[in-house]
Amino acid sequence: MGVLLISSSPHQEKSSTFLLAKEVLCGLSEEGVSGETLHLDNYKVFFCKHCEACHKKILKCPLKDDVSMILQKMLEADAILLASPNYINQVTASMKALFDRSAHFIHCKRLAGKYIAGVVSSGSGQNQEVLDYLKYYGSACGAQYSGGVSAQQQFDQDKKDEAFELGKKIASDLREKRQYADQLRNIEKGKQYFARVIKARKDDWQEEYVYWSQKGWL
Ligand SMILES: Cc1cc2nc3c(=O)[nH]c(=O)nc-3n(C[C@H](O)[C@H](O)[C@H](O)COP(=O)(O)O)c2cc1C
Repeated sequence: MGVLLISSSPHQEKSSTFLLAKEVLCGLSEEGVSGETLHLDNYKVFFCKHCEACHKKILKCPLKDDVSMILQKMLEADAILLASPNYINQVTASMKALFDRSAHFIHCKRLAGKYIAGVVSSGSGQNQEVLDYLKYYGSACGAQYSGGVSAQQQFDQDKKDEAFELGKKIASDLREKRQYADQLRNIEKGKQYFARVIKARKDDWQEEYVYWSQKGWL
């Protein structure tokens, strides 16, 4: 079992958000779950051009940058820890750019069966909207949300403990293959919407249509 931490602060190893996320990784490690860290700032992530190439041919994108490697790592992970500083009550532009480039994950619920968790830090400590957004993104991709932790940039031991506990919770979700009934209902609703869209766009989004057919979802 492996967890992928995607951390989007340009401060990288010195980032408050990353330092909090590291505590989550410690909690995971205590439970025997390994983690890999990817600092988004080290990679090229261009903006989506909405050409829809990735829907026609799955994950084929004409933009030549590091996104396909990152998306592949997301597909291989059992859980994904999304860590972003709060930039005007949102994730960083780099994180949002990555999400936009993963629209195929939303169309085909490619993160189904995985768990997502969020880590946010800010000057004010007012981070609920950002955590909610990370939960929303995960759910749109079909993943369940294990939880989130957020803090003001200078955080204390209690906050570290909370982050550590979140790591243990993600490990226990993975171990027990925990099912959150309300979340699964929500994911199912999103799927019903996309079943209609995928059918309607069958001739344009050929490989996504085939993916849905092969899954027996249509
Ligand atoms: C562009 C930008 C926007 C920000 N917007 C907010 C904000 O809306 N609310 C807030 O409390 N802090 C805001 N901050 C402060 C950062 O969220 C805060 O310093 C954070 O802890 C930095 O995390 P890092 O060390 O992981 O990069 C902003 C910082 C930047 C650079």
